[in-house]
Amino acid sequence: MNSDLAEIQTAALAAIESAPDGQSLEQAKIDFLGKKGRLTAASGLMKTLPKEEKPAFGQSLNLVRGAITAALEEKGAALQEVADREAIAGIDVTLPGREIHSGGLHPLTRIKDDAIQILRRMGFALAEGPEIEDEFHCFDALNTPADHPARNEKDTFYFDSGKLLRTHTSSVQVRTMENQSPPVRIIAPGSAYRRDEIDATHLSVFNQLEGLYVAENVSLADLKGTLVYFFQELFGPDTELQFRPHFFPFTEPSFEIDIKLHIAGRAPKWIEVAGCGIVDPAVFSAISKSRGDEAFSPDKVTGFAFGMGLDRLAMIKWGIKDIRLLIENDTRFLKQFA
Ligand code: PHE
Repeated sequence: MNSDLAEIQTAALAAIESAPDGQSLEQAKIDFLGKKGRLTAASGLMKTLPKEEKPAFGQSLNLVRGAITAALEEKGAALQEVADREAIAGIDVTLPGREIHSGGLHPLTRIKDDAIQILRRMGFALAEGPEIEDEFHCFDALNTPADHPARNEKDTFYFDSGKLLRTHTSSVQVRTMENQSPPVRIIAPGSAYRRDEIDATHLSVFNQLEGLYVAENVSLADLKGTLVYFFQELFGPDTELQFRPHFFPFTEPSFEIDIKLHIAGRAPKWIEVAGCGIVDPAVFSAISKSRGDEAFSPDKVTGFAFGMGLDRLAMIKWGIKDIRLLIENDTRFLKQFA
């Protein structure tokens, strides 16, 4: 082998071997294999050689390049290993990992999401309204006379301004009809407030889901079909329902819906889950007056409405005995739904 080349190889291997870190190794690579490196310069000699010596020189050149490249790779890997070991020095990789706690949805959120999903499949769109309401939207437009007990100070939270915390989500019926034209098919989940004594089945803030369908020729059969389907989707196809005649100022006829609850070891019990009925023409008259047009004229449209308590539905679905558990945020309770 050409003695120059042999000398370059020896020098290169020595520089590589003694490189203390990645940076010096990179420098060694530049010094020997780089554009202006020693081996590159030596390969320029090829031009000056007689033809018959060229192949042997070329071969030597390749051998030297190969040897230097291999040494660079080997040293690089060795330096990396040291660096890796230093990076985790003092870390005990045998320690158990940290547990990742995953959260879950609150039962009220779950029942609300389920209810919305079922009703959206039937074409109901989401609507909303304010929780601080006025008497017109909460009562007057809903055909509820001034002396109705629900309007009593004892039952309703009033502000000094005369506004109030809505006692039901039915106010959203009014707000929707003021702003949309028939056909209207909406649901409105949201909070409602009553001055109830707090106990195992009552809170002063609770959650309702309102529904309203207004179009031409909406009938009681439509109401019944919709709600039977809804509750059987929510609680299972064997769920039994009964529509019990009732009174609400804003629907006529009106019903309360009970579902039959089966608890092991006890006689089945009917339990009330919703109020509903055919929208009272007096409501359409109030809306027409408020809008100043005939879009909701009681001569043209009919409709049905319903309202249900989401807290109660969650309690039925999961056998929760005390409504207060739904607001206490005790993780021992909530964990069961995660
Ligand atoms: N707003 C009624 C309540 O809170 C429920 C209801 C809604 C009844 C719609 C009929 C129609 O009890």
